[in-house]
Amino acid sequence: MNAHLIGIGSAVPEAVLTNADLEKIVDTNSEWIETRAGIKERHKSGDDEWVSDLAIKASQRAIENAKISPGELDLVICATVTGDTTMPSIASVVQYYVKAKNAAAYDLGAACPGFIYGMVTADAFIRSRMFRKILVIGAETTTKVVDYTDRSTCVLFGDGAGAVVISASNDDRGIISSHMGGDGSLGNLLYLPGMRGRVPVTLEKDPIPFYVKMAGNDVFKHAVKAMADSAAKVLDLAGCTIGDVKYLIPHQANIRIIDATARRAGFPMEKVLVNIERYGNTSSATIPLAMDEAVRDGRIQKGDLLLAVSFGSGFSWGAILFGWG
Ligand code: COA
Repeated sequence: MNAHLIGIGSAVPEAVLTNADLEKIVDTNSEWIETRAGIKERHKSGDDEWVSDLAIKASQRAIENAKISPGELDLVICATVTGDTTMPSIASVVQYYVKAKNAAAYDLGAACPGFIYGMVTADAFIRSRMFRKILVIGAETTTKVVDYTDRSTCVLFGDGAGAVVISASNDDRGIISSHMGGDGSLGNLLYLPGMRGRVPVTLEKDPIPFYVKMAGNDVFKHAVKAMADSAAKVLDLAGCTIGDVKYLIPHQANIRIIDATARRAGFPMEKVLVNIERYGNTSSATIPLAMDEAVRDGRIQKGDLLLAVSFGSGFSWGAILFGWG
């Protein structure tokens, strides 16, 4: 039994925060953000707009695109680290609003690679024949957890959600291979304190709770190596080459990370999906957002082989090779 992607959808808040807007909030300039990170603008949720709102919209679109009834879903997984509630899970909220009344639901917390981890989990459930149809969501409102006085982080992030429906099938062009990796010893290089406001690794109390803290340069170096290695692993596991892949879909954190990862992994930039200039880093949502755009504008066609790769807090990283449709 193989796991096939049969539907996709995404959603972003209407409001756009441009680099020029940020110049009025924090000591930065548009040119620095564009040249150092490749970002021109990002979407920002309003005070009354939450990650569950985006996750519901993206999921409704994915279910419609998959042409299934929500009652057919067996499981809803939402990858998020910015849930408007810790309990119930955002997946449970989605389950109710999309009327997936036969589905179990839970959240998955793996930061930026969360969406890939959700796909890997769905693949395992389907291969084991435990479930047949699974909704996997990546949804974040990162702009609610960045410190708008810290220019080294606040300019990078944006809000959004993307979702896919994954279904059991006998056809062998679904999810082909995957890889996940982690290194918890580097947790203090990129973190968002939880309820107790502690710094990972040292377990010291954090003086500024509830905001993303990041050592950008260190993250940069580790991200490039981990993503390039992970991409090579999934190709190797599948016995495929770069020539077989239509698009590399990398996590959109910084255009320079994307460039360096593609170069190291051997992918020419025309085979790399990039939309960071309009969305910034939406954490677990970057990959389904980029994929949904490319499906809707026809760049991705049924049967195309795609390789998604991501890296984030943990550190955690992963890659997945799959056919679309
Ligand atoms: N506007 C203007 N100047 C800024 C700035 C901003 N928003 N942010 C930082 N700077 C300044 C710094 O203060 C520093 O000034 P100094 O030389 O006078 O000290 C200078 O720019 C260079 O800073 P540096 O941190 O070396 O820049 P960089 O080229 O490494 O880019 C990041 C910084 C954060 C954009 C980059 O390291 C990065 O993208 N890292 C990965 C982050 C990420 O994507 N994390 C999530 C992964 S999931």
